[in-house]
Amino acid sequence: MKRMIALVLALLFLLALTACSKPQPASATPDQTEATEVVTEETFDAQTYKQKLQSCVSQIKAKTDFVPDIALVLGSGLGDYADNVKVVKEIPYSEIKGFPVSTVPGHDGSLIFCEIKGKKVVIMNGRVHYYEGYSMPDVVLPLRVLHLLGAKTVILTNAVGAINADYEVGDFVTNVDHISSFVPSPLIGDNIDELGERFVDMSKVYDEDMISIVESIAKKENITTHRGVMIQVTGPQYETPTEIKNFRNMGADTVGMSTVVEAIAAKHMGMRVCTVSCITNMAAGMQEKLSHDEVKKASDNSSANFTKLIDGLLTEMKAE
Ligand code: HPA
Repeated sequence: MKRMIALVLALLFLLALTACSKPQPASATPDQTEATEVVTEETFDAQTYKQKLQSCVSQIKAKTDFVPDIALVLGSGLGDYADNVKVVKEIPYSEIKGFPVSTVPGHDGSLIFCEIKGKKVVIMNGRVHYYEGYSMPDVVLPLRVLHLLGAKTVILTNAVGAINADYEVGDFVTNVDHISSFVPSPLIGDNIDELGERFVDMSKVYDEDMISIVESIAKKENITTHRGVMIQVTGPQYETPTEIKNFRNMGADTVGMSTVVEAIAAKHMGMRVCTVSCITNMAAGMQEKLSHDEVKKASDNSSANFTKLIDGLLTEMKAE
């Protein structure tokens, strides 16, 4: 009898325990739940973001009435180009509240409003990257601001590694297409209808006329350029040789840590897009090892040719 009572008590205790414990989804440990709370896509608030965009635009308009037609984004190592332009107004990013500033000390960057070859240009001298910890909407915020200021065209420049074995360090590439499948889309979250539509066609992101102009300048100046497909990765680590092999099989010719998401945001806003990439290294597995110093050195070495291509493109392209 005593045994029977003990058994019933034990059963009741077990039942009480199960009733008290909260059901947990199989995959959500308390730590993981906390981690998902900071995922930017889930917390992206379109209203706050729109206010930030508008505030950046107003702050800039309070400092200059320059209306740019073309935005030129200078990639790492290609900032020298800005040294020789006739500046109408320069605004450091750090003076625009809400504007993302590079986390690399001394590289906070600036907007340079200028006329080049008769075109009204705003140069983004320095960009922020996803690997610095910014959300993708913040990574593309500067370009959106420049579009709202008037820019209808963007020239995106960067340093890339070559996956295509026919390319060489010092060559240039204009994108004819891209692969963005390994980075979050900058368009995730509530769509900002004022900027563009929810589901954007990406069949033709890059402007054929501008690609042809870059090619004709390159031919005239004896500079090697290729039409390529770029894949963007998050970084900051460089890729492994196996990753590169797979990217090659997917159809990528070059790899980099920026640019493609900006091209997506630009296309979302209906902008004309062109890219000029400088090959700074052969991708992982195609040379002994990779280093940022080598990337910087190679882009420095390419700066004279880079200037010829960008000057030629700005001279010959239509403003709109
Ligand atoms: N991989 C990724 N990003 C890069 C590279 C590379 O090899 N070179 C310059 N940026």
